[in-house]
Amino acid sequence: MTAGVASEASAYGLQAVVEEVHARALPDGSGHLADYIPELAQVSPDAFGLAVATTDGHLCSAGDADAPFTIQSISKAFAYCIALELLGRDKVLEHVGVEPSGDAFNAIVFDPATNRPYNPMVNAGAIAVAGLIQAHAGAEAFDLVLDRLSAAAGRPLDMDDAVYRSEATTGHRNKGIAHLLRATGAIRGDADAAVDLYFRVCAIRVTAANLARMGATLANIGENPVTGRAAFAVDAVRATLSVMFTCGMYDYAGNWALDVGVPAKSGVGGGILGVVNRQLGIGTFSPRLDAKGNSARGIRAFHELAEELGLHVF
Ligand code: DON
Repeated sequence: MTAGVASEASAYGLQAVVEEVHARALPDGSGHLADYIPELAQVSPDAFGLAVATTDGHLCSAGDADAPFTIQSISKAFAYCIALELLGRDKVLEHVGVEPSGDAFNAIVFDPATNRPYNPMVNAGAIAVAGLIQAHAGAEAFDLVLDRLSAAAGRPLDMDDAVYRSEATTGHRNKGIAHLLRATGAIRGDADAAVDLYFRVCAIRVTAANLARMGATLANIGENPVTGRAAFAVDAVRATLSVMFTCGMYDYAGNWALDVGVPAKSGVGGGILGVVNRQLGIGTFSPRLDAKGNSARGIRAFHELAEELGLHVF
């Protein structure tokens, strides 16, 4: 069934599947709000949105698919894609690797062989990537990232200033990581500017519907299927999806690959983005997180959706 999903969304009753999966995952009230960024503890814990966008431009959604939340770590996939395109794979690989770490997203561990962060999906790797974009684009860096994410979503995105300020004033662990990266050479410029860019990008506001469209842009090899605008280059998208597949769900990545089987990225704002190559983008939003920092209900919805639509790549 997978081969027909994108082109025959209505024929396969994709909207009905999305509603059914939403209804099945809704009763799962497990998990807790992220509170280490104080502003994230202020959101309504019960919100739950699910959206699926096809590479031929359909969007099917259920529940709170238009509720805004901050993108947080899901931005790491897009920032990596942008850095690859701006600087090329070799330069980016000098600063951050592509191996799963098996550690938590905020772990302070570097690959002992190279002193680089293990991959761009954990905080250390994403802060190194922010350092690369910051060094390349200077004062324009945030606008450049915002513009590309907006192109992927097909609408102008903005930043949640309260969430940005909340993390910028409490994010000492990430600031510490930035300075360690400066010491090891993974960041060669201004460590404070790098982590500030990282905080701003994490605070970009999206909805589950936006995430689905952004995923469909990745699935469509970088071109937004609705607007036709090229947001990312083909090679960068392929590399990004590869690293999302192996590292996007942190120390749950192995289980995710086993059961869901598509590239994905989660964020502590409660979002999960999934990509079905050439076919679909999937966005979920439910802010209660499990012990590994992934949206509990989002994971449940992805399991159900993968089963219903036969999404697994193998
Ligand atoms: O750096 C942080 O801790 C947050 N801005 C983002 C972490 C995150 O989203 C991890 N994802 N599940």
